[in-house]
Amino acid sequence: MKGKVVLVTGAASGIGAACARRFAEHGATVVLADRNNSDDLARELDALAIKVDVRDEVSVARLYSIINERHSRLDVLAHLAGVAQRGLITAFSVTDWDTVVDTNLKGTFLCCRGAIPLLRKSGGGAIVTIGSELAYVAEQNISVYSATKAAVVHFTRCLANDHGADGIRVNCVCPGPVQTPMLERGIKDSPDPALTRRRTEQTTILGRLGQPTEIANVVYFLASDEASFITGSAILADGGVTSKAT
Ligand SMILES: NC(=O)c1ccc[n+]([C@@H]2O[C@H](COP(=O)([O-])OP(=O)(O)OC[C@H]3O[C@@H](n4cnc5c(N)ncnc54)[C@H](O)[C@@H]3O)[C@@H](O)[C@H]2O)c1
Repeated sequence: MKGKVVLVTGAASGIGAACARRFAEHGATVVLADRNNSDDLARELDALAIKVDVRDEVSVARLYSIINERHSRLDVLAHLAGVAQRGLITAFSVTDWDTVVDTNLKGTFLCCRGAIPLLRKSGGGAIVTIGSELAYVAEQNISVYSATKAAVVHFTRCLANDHGADGIRVNCVCPGPVQTPMLERGIKDSPDPALTRRRTEQTTILGRLGQPTEIANVVYFLASDEASFITGSAILADGGVTSKAT
């Protein structure tokens, strides 16, 4: 990754922060983008941190214009920004819908749309999007989030088709339950957190939660030249959730 410019969205927390560290360890010039402050991580990695709201066209355009001014190139977009919200749709307001759909789906559209011209200008590159095992299995109480993740998987396949000729590979990573602030919030807000944690661990074949670094490894691999013949794929890193015998 030496000499490559890598944009990581959702970099202030969880899987995104782990990805930023992994790319930096391998010598990439990393740009951290998040709606929250990632200045501490930027200092740790000697990286540029830019505040962005991935739902907002103007904010995303500003992000790419800063990257273009600063680095004049982009080799990898690792797009990890996302939000999860549980609830039956009868208790889901249109505002809730907009938050989840705009962040996970419109955000993916805006960040990929902004990246493609810069990737093209750099002679090609890779985009890694983030889905979920919930793109494949139906779980109760999380329909809107799951629908956005299924849409991201298919959007990824379509972008791979549209931009293969530009030398841009586009793939998606679909994690199972990973121990991040997002998952911990969901567990804490449940009626019986200890039971929810045990049950969540037991949804996997491995009997445990994943760690952010275990997802970062897959994101890094897909972005690297080691994955040069992989495009249009959605790779499950779910501890076996989708293969578990019941
Ligand atoms: N943790 C899991 O179990 C799990 C499983 C499957 C998929 N995922 C996906 O992985 C991705 C990362 O999740 P995580 O678990 O690390 O969560 P997290 O909450 O720890 O990190 C998500 C980051 O995205 C940022 N973000 C949210 N909305 C944004 C916006 N509008 N603009 C810019 N940044 C925004 C947040 O500020 C945060 O830093 C998400 O897309 C999530 O859906 C997580």
